[in-house]
Amino acid sequence: WVLMVTARTPTNIAVIKYWGKRDEKLILPINDSISVTLDPNHLCTTTTVSVSPSFVEDRMWLNGKEISLQGGRFQSCLREIRARANDVEDEKRGIKINKEDWQKLHLHIASYNNFPTAAGLASSAAGLACLVFSLAKLMNLKEDNSQLSAIARQGSGSACRSLYGGFVKWIMGKEENGSDSLAVQLADEKHWDELVIIIAVVSARQKETSSTSGMRDTVETSALIQHRAKEVVPKRIIEMENAIQNRDFASFARLACTDSNQFHAVCLDTYPPIFYMNDTSHRIISCVEKWNRAEETPQVAYTFDAGPNAVMIARDRKTAALLLQRLLYNFPPQPDTDLDRYVIGDKSI
Ligand code: ADP
Ligand code: DP6
Repeated sequence: WVLMVTARTPTNIAVIKYWGKRDEKLILPINDSISVTLDPNHLCTTTTVSVSPSFVEDRMWLNGKEISLQGGRFQSCLREIRARANDVEDEKRGIKINKEDWQKLHLHIASYNNFPTAAGLASSAAGLACLVFSLAKLMNLKEDNSQLSAIARQGSGSACRSLYGGFVKWIMGKEENGSDSLAVQLADEKHWDELVIIIAVVSARQKETSSTSGMRDTVETSALIQHRAKEVVPKRIIEMENAIQNRDFASFARLACTDSNQFHAVCLDTYPPIFYMNDTSHRIISCVEKWNRAEETPQVAYTFDAGPNAVMIARDRKTAALLLQRLLYNFPPQPDTDLDRYVIGDKSI
């Protein structure tokens, strides 16, 4: 027999960024972060996990190719989930798995991302969150999403925020064992549903500096990162929570844009410097800034993760249509240029 569970998890985009760890193994951050979870129909991971007495080892396929599960991060997640597994029974098929059996049974995992992997569009966030969630269902875990988020965090920090829809905060926590470093939902997906996300896929190529090694180098060499983590982000987190609660787009846009800019400033302050944005990214920033300045109040927020792709958040559908028009006019996607395509991310669960 084979028992299977399939789950789908969207990616999330941070509007107050996580960058820097205080514990590399447990993945504990040096500051809180806040993200928005995208609509699962657009950028998402679909993972099927299966168990059978005939499987002789744990194996995983990502986008159709077998990958190793030996990495410490996958192993941490598998270990933590197996430790919490419960009895599972499928009466119709006469299958009974006792909780002790999970230590001996092996898993086969197949996962697909419907968007470029390792290109700065947070595939690791959707991927690890989906892995943890589907395994938790298969093994009948009783933990709630916040407790599962603390497991997903050990796979990839940003993954902990993909266990919830809407606006999500990853609380950095104080405990050395990481037990209080987990995600909580600030507002659900219906709270501010006028917002529309448009992503300019400036490059779908694999990034040169991974987030993991980039943030390690930043913590080791940047003089600015401690100022950011201790002085700047704590205030911004409070302001951002208020902006989200009050649906205050002007504050939301100012905070998201300045936080993205500061994150890229600490990347530049890293030695050797890390350049995630390129000329096209910079031109998109100028275009949005010019537009916002020409209006009474900001119309669009932008934010860039560890790559050149621009994530833009429009205040409503009408603005999103105008934004897309401007982008297509100023930055037409063409195969041989620096702009691959646009993705409408929406904002949902
Ligand atoms: P990204 O910017 O896309 O998050 P990273 O380099 O940070 O890029 O992470 C990419 C890594 O995340 C992959 O090499 C793989 O280890 C992991 N990953 C991506 N997608 C999945 C998935 N669907 N399931 C499990 N792990 C995944
Ligand atoms: C720029 O979560 O990919 O997207 O914890 O080492 O796996 P690891 O890093 P990761 O870093 C994400 C960094 C970011 C900002 C963010 O998502 O908050």
